[in-house]
Amino acid sequence: MKLKLPTKKKEQGKPNGELYKAQPPVKKSTNPLDKVLGNIKPPSFEKQDYFKDSPKKPDVVDPNYSLRQQTLNLIDILSPQSAESDFDYIKINDVYFRTLFVSGYPRFVAPGWLEPIVNFDSSLDISFYIYPVEGKNVLDDLRRKIAEMEAEIATDLQRGRIVDPATQAKLEDARSLQEQLVKGVERFFQFSFYITIPAPTIEDLNQLTKQIESTLGSLLIVAKHASLDMKDGFISTAPLASDKLSITRNMDTTSVATTFPLTSAELSSDKGILYGMNSQNDSFVIFDRFSLENSNMTIFATSGAGKSYFVKLEALRSLMLGVDVVVIDPEAEYKSLAEAAGGEYISFSFSSGSKINPFDLSQVQEEGENQLGLKILTLHSLFKVIMGELTAIQEALLDRALVATYRAKGITQDPDTQTKEPPLMEDLYKTLIGMETKEALDLAARIEKFVRGSFVGIFDKHTNVNLDNPFTVFSVKDLQESLRPIVMFIVLDYIWTRIKRDLKRRLLIVDEAWHMMKYPDSAQFLWSVVKRARKYFLGLTTITQDVEDFLGMDIGKAIVTNSALRLLLKQSPAAVDKIGDTFYLSEGEKQLLLAANVGEGIFFAGPHHVPISIVASQKEHQLVTTRPEELAKKEKKIITEPNTPKTQ
Ligand SMILES: Nc1ncnc2c1ncn2[C@@H]1O[C@H](COP(=O)(O)OP(=O)(O)OP(=O)(O)O)[C@@H](O)[C@H]1O
Ligand SMILES: [Mg+2]
Repeated sequence: MKLKLPTKKKEQGKPNGELYKAQPPVKKSTNPLDKVLGNIKPPSFEKQDYFKDSPKKPDVVDPNYSLRQQTLNLIDILSPQSAESDFDYIKINDVYFRTLFVSGYPRFVAPGWLEPIVNFDSSLDISFYIYPVEGKNVLDDLRRKIAEMEAEIATDLQRGRIVDPATQAKLEDARSLQEQLVKGVERFFQFSFYITIPAPTIEDLNQLTKQIESTLGSLLIVAKHASLDMKDGFISTAPLASDKLSITRNMDTTSVATTFPLTSAELSSDKGILYGMNSQNDSFVIFDRFSLENSNMTIFATSGAGKSYFVKLEALRSLMLGVDVVVIDPEAEYKSLAEAAGGEYISFSFSSGSKINPFDLSQVQEEGENQLGLKILTLHSLFKVIMGELTAIQEALLDRALVATYRAKGITQDPDTQTKEPPLMEDLYKTLIGMETKEALDLAARIEKFVRGSFVGIFDKHTNVNLDNPFTVFSVKDLQESLRPIVMFIVLDYIWTRIKRDLKRRLLIVDEAWHMMKYPDSAQFLWSVVKRARKYFLGLTTITQDVEDFLGMDIGKAIVTNSALRLLLKQSPAAVDKIGDTFYLSEGEKQLLLAANVGEGIFFAGPHHVPISIVASQKEHQLVTTRPEELAKKEKKIITEPNTPKTQ
């Protein structure tokens, strides 16, 4: 049966007769759908006939105009031009729809079991209806059923027959459900599940239906066509909350919970923090980064794409789960966040009181590790960054000087001596001077500025900062550009030595990590921390806007491969190919990154990746934003707030 609803009737302003041919008298149909659709028989609108009668092109209807002129009412405007309901599909305008209802469910399901259908590679309208059921009625039914099954088993036994294992299994299920319901652990629901498939042609519709049925089949779900009920099926999957099909199945709370559609099985877990929304299916990207093979993360994007914003959100949310956060902040942009979270903000400058002594030892003994040896290796790298190029002789001298400096303080390879007070920069300087060779004096001259020259004041005293606060930010903004890699190195080394002392879950965020990649030795050190972080519960996050340089270095690539988590936000056309090669991106994914808005990108966790959009609550946004206009507004508000008279 066909039902065609004309909407272009009145706006033409012509008598009906001109537009529509008179219809032959409608024969009485034996189609049962007539009952469903009622007896509405509006004049049908035949396109070809219309063009035959009128060579003119039809006027285009302006809905607003027609509504104002009252030539069309609202329903005419909203409703489709034609709807055709068939045995096995419904056609609305030019789109075919078929509704499937689910009649059989698997006995056991795991959370997110519907994921293959929710993420099906074609647009579907899926609706679930969940009806809470009065517990008492269910319990009465259950009691009766249990009694029946027990009687059946008892009779079988009496007659010497073998008990039906299916009945036994059902009885067990019913008993455990009864217990859960009585205890109030579970509640009872009726659940219905419909899928409407849209397609441009009937062939496509049949093809898609087959694919969906086989996907459902693989999940042990039995789906059937809502034959003869396509109209009700369509309405039941429209966002009207009207279940016209009413084909339900009983479920307890746990089973209903597993049908929750907004999870992507890949990157949604039941613990951890919210990283963002999966922009493909609007599910939440939630997980615990400490559950992956390592907890390191690398973030690449152009400036202003939302890297720091993302990391700050993660830091705030992780703090709530008892994870400590340490930040090395070259731009002083974590200050307000530290203040809001009750954290400690340590700023390094020549005049500030915060000191770190690069000669500190971790005082943690590990099997097979020579603590002093490791420290001297790190100091070697640090001094190479500070001193610049060294000849082989100078390197040997430096090594000897470092060993001698520790020995002068009574510190040797013997672990017991390593708890003594460590030497200072000045001690090394004196040792070098004392060596009295030309090369050693040259080395001494290169560190002189840190001991008595213009750079005095940061590394020449014993350490007086600590990591006791769960949220500690080290800012190096107030130092000149050339010193930043050195200070970042020293701070990273300090944090690394302290982290070993008491093990707990920590995030270490190195913002603008490319400062450290400028020198091979500091890059090497960063890499060594990345490599060993896992053993100390540490998740190291490196943020970089200089994508090309970072990935151009072997160490940069190695850092990426040793990070289970990777976030790519907006990329520049210059960098996108390199990113594509490193992360094995498809053309589509590259396009996504080129066209991404602020806070949008691709998120990799272990072997999975999803398109992500990073979202913050209003409160969070105020804490983490760095937009000058928003900051200015916030500041103004703080200044004016006390004086603002209360309106109430
Ligand atoms: N997901 C988001 N939602 C809303 N606003 C955002 C989002 N991400 C970033 N922004 C806005 O964009 C601004 C710049 O972002 P952010 O400071 O994270 O840039 P960045 O990538 O760290 O840049 P740079 O490399 O220059 O430090 C933020 O201060 C914030 O106002
Ligand atoms: Mg930033």
